[in-house]
Amino acid sequence: MKDKVTIHTLKRLKQAAQKICMVTAYDATFARILDEAGADVMLVGDSVGMVVQGHESTLPVTMDQMIYHCMAVTRGAKRAHVVGDMPFMSYQTSVEAAVRNAGRLVAEGGVGSVKLEGGAEFADTVAAIVRASIPVMGHLGLTPQSVHKMGGYVVQGKDEQAARKILQDALALERAGCYALVLEGVPTELARQITQRLSIPTIGIGAGVDCDGQVLVCYDLLGMNPHFKPKFVKRFADLHGTITGAASAFFNEVRAGTFPDEDHSFHSKTLRLVASNAPAPGSNESSEPAEGAEKVGPIYGVPV
Ligand code: KIV
Repeated sequence: MKDKVTIHTLKRLKQAAQKICMVTAYDATFARILDEAGADVMLVGDSVGMVVQGHESTLPVTMDQMIYHCMAVTRGAKRAHVVGDMPFMSYQTSVEAAVRNAGRLVAEGGVGSVKLEGGAEFADTVAAIVRASIPVMGHLGLTPQSVHKMGGYVVQGKDEQAARKILQDALALERAGCYALVLEGVPTELARQITQRLSIPTIGIGAGVDCDGQVLVCYDLLGMNPHFKPKFVKRFADLHGTITGAASAFFNEVRAGTFPDEDHSFHSKTLRLVASNAPAPGSNESSEPAEGAEKVGPIYGVPV
């Protein structure tokens, strides 16, 4: 394993003009695979509410759910820096609540930093979390927790005034101590200007190629949902096709009675069926494995 990525690595990558690769993850198995594939940053996004829980927005996601997913991802990610998203209403009500909840993501979830949505109005919140020694990633532009305020998931900063506001927010978040900034759903031209003006890295999603790095939701880049194809998503695989193909092959073999075959079955040379409810002579009530017990090994594909 190469050295663990830290917030300082990310700053160095920006200075060296090397792109930062960020991806979302929600469980240990995906985290392990994406880590092995070379992710620099793994975001336990509140997008979990949509792609895993099936909600129409990220708003129903709770702190306890985020901690649960952060714990799983941090077990799988060995090299990548893991960021925990602060869910809706975990930081908006007070600075004190924000620091406490950021602390829970680090202490209980095991993440190396937290991410929150919003601009200059959250500068004090960001500064307080950073004062507690918890690095903060900002998130500007299309901020999904503000879906009702935005009137839907729409590209932000398209006119001069809106763009200027996002640029000012970006500068305010940098001053407040953010170590990086997600720019979502903004014009390429605006993201380029913000990236040039900031010394901290920008990570784009639907923000053009000039950001210091890029992030996509893992289910989107892997093509898990053939019905979801927004302009900013590129499918790098067709896992929907792969999974439906594999699962239907399994179902066909089950229905045909050809699975499990001999290669996937266990046998006993000594077993005699006892035609009674009475315990068989010498039956062992304890859970201790019998002499010569055939070990299956780990069951279910646990990450190693
Ligand atoms: O929740 C999330 O997955 C995100 C990314 C899309 C940036 O915030």
